[in-house]
Amino acid sequence: MPDRVRKAVFPVAGLGTRLLPATKSIPKEMITIVDRPLIQYAVDEAREAGIEQLIFVTGRGKSALVDYFDQAFELEATLKAKGKSLDVLECSNASFGEVVTVRQQQPLGLGHAVWCARDIVGEEPFAVLLPDELMRGKPGCLAQMVEAYEKVGGNLVAALEVPDSETHKYGVIDPGASNGRLTEIRGLVEKPAPGSAPSNLMLPGRYILQPEVMRALDAQEKGAGGEIQLTDAMAKVIGRQPFHGYRFEGERYDCGSATGFVIANLAIALERSDTGPAVNDFISSLRGA
Ligand code: UTP
Repeated sequence: MPDRVRKAVFPVAGLGTRLLPATKSIPKEMITIVDRPLIQYAVDEAREAGIEQLIFVTGRGKSALVDYFDQAFELEATLKAKGKSLDVLECSNASFGEVVTVRQQQPLGLGHAVWCARDIVGEEPFAVLLPDELMRGKPGCLAQMVEAYEKVGGNLVAALEVPDSETHKYGVIDPGASNGRLTEIRGLVEKPAPGSAPSNLMLPGRYILQPEVMRALDAQEKGAGGEIQLTDAMAKVIGRQPFHGYRFEGERYDCGSATGFVIANLAIALERSDTGPAVNDFISSLRGA
């Protein structure tokens, strides 16, 4: 049985330029999908997978994101005095010591953001979740991955098929043999030039990694776009440790873009019993118009 995954890194120090002007003063992870900030969905997914420590790699202007997980005494007292339920706040209250933050002083890339958490992660396997990639599944994407990881160990990344015309935007897998939802990884390439991708299996932002990936990041080598890329560091441990892609069962919404945000809002509003019927009626009325 491989070592248990207890810690998850949430890189949230990016500038979120695709969502300007909103992200000028609001962290992208605090924009809401229905009535919850994006970060809540990623934290719920991590907790469901058994994660005990949430490590946020933050930067300037991201304090609202960390404050969100504090207990809001005044708000709770006011709600109580009005006889209102506090249940809705429960998921946003971190337990003592559950949240740890570290700063990335400059947005030098995803790999650099993950590396900033190296001392907190230490010498144990860790998960990485990109909160702007909203994953829906039953169980959640990371819980599915943890179950697969317990069988194969090593490094395991979520894998998702995209149209060939989109591979240049992502980290892409050079696949080996497949067994059910698992595919061996022979190589990884970040943002391949159009037409040169080794497959159409991309990395949608969920990873279970071994500390050796942190060691590979120590080199601080710049890759695609002049950024320190997580994909390049992962590629270095292929062949030295088991490395698999996992095709998770569920939906993925790319909330790093305005279109993805709108689609995620609609999909989740339709799923929920409190909002679904009215939103469905509204969509039907638009179709009829
Ligand atoms: P993105 O590629 O989506 O970059 O980062 P971004 O800055 O958030 O958004 P755009 O492209 O400018 O609109 C993927 C993830 O990596 C984090 C981001 O916060 C996001 O969760 N990240 C990226 C960092 O934490 N630091 C970085 O230097 C870069």
